[in-house]
Parts: sequence; structure tokens; C-alpha cells
Amino acid sequence: MKAARREPVDRVPIWLMRQAGRYLPEYRRIREQVSFLQLCRDPRLASQVMLLTVERLPVDAAILFSDLLLILEPMGLELRFGADEGPTLRNPIREPRDVARFREWEDMDSLDFVWETVRRTRAGLPDAMPLIGFAGAPFTLAAYAIEGRTSRSFENVKRFMYSHPEAWDDLLGKLERSVARYLIAQCESGVQALQVFDSWAGCLSADDYRCYVLRHTQRLLAALPADVPVIHFATGNPALIPLQAEAGGGVIGVDWRIRLSEAWAMIGEDRGIQGNLDPAVLLGPEEVVRRRAREVLAETRGRPGHIFNLGHGVLPSTPVENVLALIETVRDWDPEQLP
Ligand code: CP3
Repeated sequence: MKAARREPVDRVPIWLMRQAGRYLPEYRRIREQVSFLQLCRDPRLASQVMLLTVERLPVDAAILFSDLLLILEPMGLELRFGADEGPTLRNPIREPRDVARFREWEDMDSLDFVWETVRRTRAGLPDAMPLIGFAGAPFTLAAYAIEGRTSRSFENVKRFMYSHPEAWDDLLGKLERSVARYLIAQCESGVQALQVFDSWAGCLSADDYRCYVLRHTQRLLAALPADVPVIHFATGNPALIPLQAEAGGGVIGVDWRIRLSEAWAMIGEDRGIQGNLDPAVLLGPEEVVRRRAREVLAETRGRPGHIFNLGHGVLPSTPVENVLALIETVRDWDPEQLP
């Protein structure tokens, strides 16, 4: 929490995106019993997953165990998670008229299981450990709502955006207001900080981000409580970083495609930064993990406002020992030390 506010800290804090996931045997054991969606909708199990994770890993924050796409269901889209294909939507948005049937999210009861998961996770965590709530940014949620699945080229979303700018604005407006309510409700249920994931924004050029996305993310971030630290994360295109910072967030989350010092220079001294080790480094030998982690740390020279994380989520084939070695390296790091 101090790092998010750019206050001096005794050591650089660390947590990992997807720290609860398939690379952990504890997680796989729970997933043998239930599907991923059942897990997300079961507050007892979902909170247990994150509590087991922070017992196993000496990290400095927990994140709500849930999924980015669950909010799309009460908005009218039918979500499925197949065995290996990742999430799919049965009825994606493809035409302007589909935006009309896409309901702005207002019914708090429809996501009761999220509030209950927040309360149970919060109650089980050490008092000093922050719980991070999260949601998708309007663009990333719209990309899913239109593509209906993970995409490489984002043809459908770009076709829609260029062809129907008014319906696009309408769609992003609905998402922006729904996500703001959703995040505020997470705060009221007990999270201490928020992360907004714009995981697919990197498919856009800076000009298209400015033209089609920036104002919506800006309004969303401006609507969040001023006293709650917000991490605004995006991945895929370092050219977007200045615009990502313009859109808002006290902490900007960046991926590994740019040096942390260069990203921080683009973001400005008045913001914190989160990142940015390539998650694939954790697939290499332990000494490489430790050296590359120290190289990331040396980039900031201990300047207040750095939250260590990966540049994106932990990959399922990651050895747990390497995750532990990474966390230990960050915890033991001394700013006087050379990489
Ligand atoms: O540990 C954590 O980070 C907390 C929980 C969390 C999950 N998803 C659990 C999950 C969070 C914060 C998310 C966010 C999320 N979900 C994002 C944004 C982050 C990112 O990766 O960019 C996105 C794009 C999604 C949508 C999503 N969920 C996809 C594309 C997939 C399939 C990819 C994959 O890894 O299989 C998921 C599934 C998912 N979300 C899993 C977990 C633990 C794996 C599900 C399983 O058990 O099979």
C-alpha cells in the first residue's frame, strides 16, 4: 500500500498476476473437483484458493480469485470455459443492434458470490496484507464481448469499432459505468486496492487507442474512490504507455517489452509502476530467474513507488521452485547491490 502511494518502503513489495493458477499443485487439486466457473461461483472454494496461495508464497498482496469475464453474464452474454480452449461466449456482440440487448450492469445481487468471496478472503488474510480487487478495462471486455473468444488479430472488434463508431461508444459507455459500479462494490465488500486489466489494448495503435478507448478508461478510473490505490495494467504495446498514464491510475502496470526505467520516464515521477519480469523467464534455470529479477530491481534503484510483478500472468508450466526463488530474490534485494 505504501509503494502504491510512492512512500518509502523497507523493501520492494511483490505479488504475481495469476499467482493462484494451474502451476500450483494445490490449485490443480481443487480443480479436479470442480470446473473453473463453479470454482469462481463458490465463495468458500474461491477464497480458499487465494488463502492457500498466500500461505504457500511469501507475497505481499492477495488478489480476489475470480475472472474478468464474469460481469458479462448479468449483462446478457453466455460464458463458457471449455477444457483447453479458454473462455468462449455463446452469443457475442456482432451488430449495432446487439448492443441494445447488452444490459448495463446494475443488479448487485447477480454477483453476490463475488462480494462473499471478497469478505471470506479478507477475513482469512493477515490484517497487514492488502486484498486487491479487479475488473477488465472497457476495451478488453468489449474485445471479448465482440470476438467471443481469445483472438490473435481482433478482426471482429476492429471491424465493429471502425464501422459503427456510435454503437461502439454506446458499448464502451455501458461497460465503463458497469465496471465502475462493480469495482466500487468490491471496495465496499473489503478490498484495499484495485487493478484494472486492459490485457488486449496492445492490439491497438496509439492513435486508435486515443480515438476509441482513452476517454472511456479515463471516465472509469476517475469514478473510482480517490483513497483507493488503482493499478492500471496493459500489455502488448509500449507505445501506449503514455496514453495509458493519461487515462489514469496511481500505479501503471507494464509488461516486459520495455525497460522499467524507460517506462517510468514515460509515465512520470508522480506515478508508481508495477512490473515487469517476462513470465517466461520463470521457465528457465533458477540462476537466470534470480539474475533477471535483480536486473529489473536495478532499473528502479530502489526509488519509491515500484511494485514488483511479472509483465503478465504466471504460465501454467512454471516450476513452483522458480516462483519461490523469484520472491526470495526480491525480498532479499538491497538497492546498493549490483545485478
Ligand atoms: O491469481 C490471480 O491472478 C487471480 C485470479 C484471476 C484469474 N483470471 C483466474 C484464472 C484473474 C485476476 C484473472 C483475470 C483475467 N481473466 C484476465 C486478465 C488478466 C490477463 O491474463 O490478462 C483475462 C484476460 C481473463 C480471461 C481468462 N480467464 C482467460 C483468457 C483464461 C484462459 C487462459 C488460461 O490460462 O487458461 C482464463 C482462465 C483462468 N482465469 C484461469 C485462472 C486460474 C485458469 C482456469 C483453469 O483452472 O483452467
